[in-house]
Amino acid sequence: MTDDLKELSDTAARAIAAADSPAALDAVRVDLLGKKGRLTELMKSLGALSADERKTRGQSLNVLKDQITARLDARKAELEGAELDRRLASESVDVTLPPRPERTGFIHPISQTVDEVVAILGDMGFTVAEGPDIEDDWYNFTALNIPPDHPARQEHDTFYLPGTRQSPGGSARVVLRTHTSPVQIRTMMAGKPPFRIIVPGRTYRCDSDATHSPMFHQVEGLVIDEATHMGHLKGCLVEFCRAYFGIDDLPVRFRASYFPFTEPSAEVDIGCTREGGGFRIGHGDDWLEILGCGMVNPKVLENCGIDPARYQGFAFGMGLERIAMLKYGIPDLRTFYESDLRWLRHYGFAAVQQPSLTGGLNP
Ligand code: PHE
Repeated sequence: MTDDLKELSDTAARAIAAADSPAALDAVRVDLLGKKGRLTELMKSLGALSADERKTRGQSLNVLKDQITARLDARKAELEGAELDRRLASESVDVTLPPRPERTGFIHPISQTVDEVVAILGDMGFTVAEGPDIEDDWYNFTALNIPPDHPARQEHDTFYLPGTRQSPGGSARVVLRTHTSPVQIRTMMAGKPPFRIIVPGRTYRCDSDATHSPMFHQVEGLVIDEATHMGHLKGCLVEFCRAYFGIDDLPVRFRASYFPFTEPSAEVDIGCTREGGGFRIGHGDDWLEILGCGMVNPKVLENCGIDPARYQGFAFGMGLERIAMLKYGIPDLRTFYESDLRWLRHYGFAAVQQPSLTGGLNP
């Protein structure tokens, strides 16, 4: 190999070793072997030599080319290996990291109560229906036989939203639903009887103290069929109260009441004993109100296009926070929404057990 080729071999070796990235190495390759590369230019100059010179120099150039190619390949493999090592190191997941201090998630008492109520009433043949939180006053009031001048509208401290919208009863104000009862209307207008639905959901009233929150939860129930009567209403709700509180002979009474959308209407009380400021649910000489109910007012059926001469049924509604507080001894309603982990750890439920009548309602 002539001196100039030896020198090229050395510079090439140094440049290849100095290339510290695949891109830098590629630049070195182009500089040597590219179209206008140094070795390529030397190859091109062979044509000007005599036949003998061309033979020896040509062989040397080929040897040099092979040598440079081998060095380039070796360096390339080295750089790629290093690159992979770097990526593996930077992307590694330390599986030995300890878990965060909060090891377990908890089911919020409201979710747990919804699950329990759905388990009990689902077992009786109810299916879950839902409706929008943002309603209009036709669904929330008018269709439920609460016309605009009805005093019951004042009793619901309604959150009115700006504007009006078209409802089946004409232009209506937009409201946050004050109860889950508008879903009765939506269900009856959308389908054909029989209906057997429960509606767990958020409701809103402009009210806030230890027993009222501007947002709270209710469960609505609705049964409409040809021969449904008050006996079914009573049987269903007595059974529900006893299953929910887990007391087989829990005293349950129906007290005459008034709701515009049911006729007759009743409030349901369960037996309890009051002792030292608190109370115990079960036998005793006192009563606690837990829900409202009644036979669906024929006017409501008519408003939904259902013939009240053929169909009838019952409805009920209850506050979920209230029945959760009673069952689990939670004293203040506001704590439900404070997102205090200590509270949730105390009153929350383990996530593994789904309530069911056969598997047990209580964790
Ligand atoms: N919607 C009523 C309320 O919020 C409860 C209820 C529902 C009463 C269905 C009777 C029938 O107070």
